[in-house]
Amino acid sequence: MGTKGREIVGLDVDELIKRLNSALADEWLAVYQYWVGSKIITGPMANAVEEELAELAAEEKQHADMLADRIVTLGGTPLIDPKMWYEVTTCGYEEPTSEFVKDLLEQNIKGEQCAIEVYKGLLDFIGSKDPVSFHMIREILEDEIDHEEELQVLEENFNYMMSHKQ
Ligand SMILES: [Fe+2]
Ligand SMILES: [Fe+2]
Repeated sequence: MGTKGREIVGLDVDELIKRLNSALADEWLAVYQYWVGSKIITGPMANAVEEELAELAAEEKQHADMLADRIVTLGGTPLIDPKMWYEVTTCGYEEPTSEFVKDLLEQNIKGEQCAIEVYKGLLDFIGSKDPVSFHMIREILEDEIDHEEELQVLEENFNYMMSHKQ
């Protein structure tokens, strides 16, 4: 990053890069969790939920792109070894040991709620000290809030359908 571009970042850039890399690990683990979930899902409404999970996998990948680009711009290096994901992640990886629609939805809603907390924490950390990172993280946070809602609507539909089954 250019010298002036770095100079206007009024906080510990190394700490910021560390936190962005932690979020990057969360995103990649989320990509895989959604992606593999979309492959194995079974049960009522499986088709609709499969489509949603595949879409979310793609959006989490976009978040990974945004975070990695910002890390590079700040003069850092995005995690270059997937083994690091487990070491620096906050939200972790929830192995989808059940392929049932409802279990997958519950796991992924939990994941989104963790992501919302992570990005809210990042916004609090950045404050007005780095408007560029702030703007980007706010955009990601808005997506995670949408994701939680979309999954919860699917879960509500699922519950409604099951309770009205003959
Ligand atoms: Fe994300
Ligand atoms: Fe998400």
